[in-house]
Parts: sequence; structure tokens; C-alpha cells
Amino acid sequence: MLVAPSILSADFGRLNDEITAICQGGCDLIHVDVMDGHFVPNMTIGPVVVSSVAKVATKPLDVHLMVENNSFFIDLFAPLKPEYISFHIESEKHPHRVIQKIRSLGIKPAIVLNPHSTPESIEYLLEDLDMVLLMSVNPGFGGQKFIKSVIEKTIELKKLILKRNPNCLIQVDGGVNDKNIYELKKAGVDIVVAGSYVYGAHDYAKAIKSLQV
Ligand code: DX5
Ligand code: ZN
Repeated sequence: MLVAPSILSADFGRLNDEITAICQGGCDLIHVDVMDGHFVPNMTIGPVVVSSVAKVATKPLDVHLMVENNSFFIDLFAPLKPEYISFHIESEKHPHRVIQKIRSLGIKPAIVLNPHSTPESIEYLLEDLDMVLLMSVNPGFGGQKFIKSVIEKTIELKKLILKRNPNCLIQVDGGVNDKNIYELKKAGVDIVVAGSYVYGAHDYAKAIKSLQV
């Protein structure tokens, strides 16, 4: 299991140290939550702050867009050369076009499903994706309770992935901890995002390791 700590739960007053700590702690990716105050009722960081994160990061960036205007934000973040950019299916009228745009910039495209959205809704996009992110909380805030139906959804999505594009990874984001990690692994999850579990821990390295099952 790959682990992407979400810097949403980091101490933003000491952001460089917080990034260095998870990189040295053995994380696989750095999850960056971008919120515009429209698609979700919260705002976070833009490319100016993330560019200083990118300078100290020794692991690839995983940019999770929670915004209405995906194309605009993709243009802002592409120069930082993230490994992935993921956007919500619920916020996009032309998801296939946006996937092509991300790939044309040399970045791996991913689609995010809110807790109510079904894997079937993206079946015909799977062959063009590198990853699907399943939200296991409502997007907008860290520290929320894990929504259990994501386990069943992962199993359903895995079947579609095996049929359409076995290389596509499954990521789960929200309420992940050392209690639900084995169930997520068993269901077929490849990457977990963990914010409050990692940054709320005394020992970040130990917390990250406990999820790399
Ligand atoms: C929520 C974000 C998550 C969040 C996860 O909108 O997408 O990445 O930071 O935080 P935890 O792990 O605390 O649920
Ligand atoms: Zn996220």
C-alpha cells in the first residue's frame, strides 16, 4: 500500500519542516488538497504556496482539485510538475477533455468520486485514467469519519478496472487510519491518503509505516 499524507492537516506555519518530516518519514507521495470555496465550503492553498512545498519535497506531488473550474487550476499547477492531478467528476461537464488536457501536460490524470457517485458513471473513462480516487468522507475538511460504503465501492470499481484498464490505480481519501487499512487493502486499494492520522501522530514515520501494509 502506498501512502500519501495530506498536508491539509500539517502546521502551515512550519510547512517546510512538515513536508521534510513526511518525506524523511518514508511517504510515497505528498497529497495537496486544493479548494476554491465554491465546489467545497473551504479554501486552502494555491500555486504560490505549493511551489515552496515543491522546493523541499523529495517525493512526488499528488494534487487533488476540489474546484469548479478545473481547467483554470490545471494551468496553475501544471508548472509544478505533479505526478498526478485529480479532479471531481461532479464538477466537470467534459471530463474526457480534461483528462486529455492533463495528459498532454505530461501529468497522470485521475478522477475523484464523491461518496454518492458510482463507479459505473466513469466506466468509459477508465481506459484513459492512471488513477481513480474514491472519497471516503465529504470533501472539504480533514479529520472526518470514514464512510464505510467505500469498501463495497472499491470492490465494484476493481471489477470494472480489471475489465477496462488493469493499470489504473485506486486511491482512497478520508478518515484512513491503522484500523481500516487492512479492509482497504483487502478490497483492492493501492494508495491511501491520510491527513489527521499522520499529522496527528507523535511519530510521523511510524504512522506512515503502519499504513504501508
Ligand atoms: C478532504 C481531503 C482529504 C483530507 C483527509 O477534503 O480531500 O485529503 O485532508 O484528511 P483525513 O485523513 O484527516 O480524513
Ligand atoms: Zn484529498
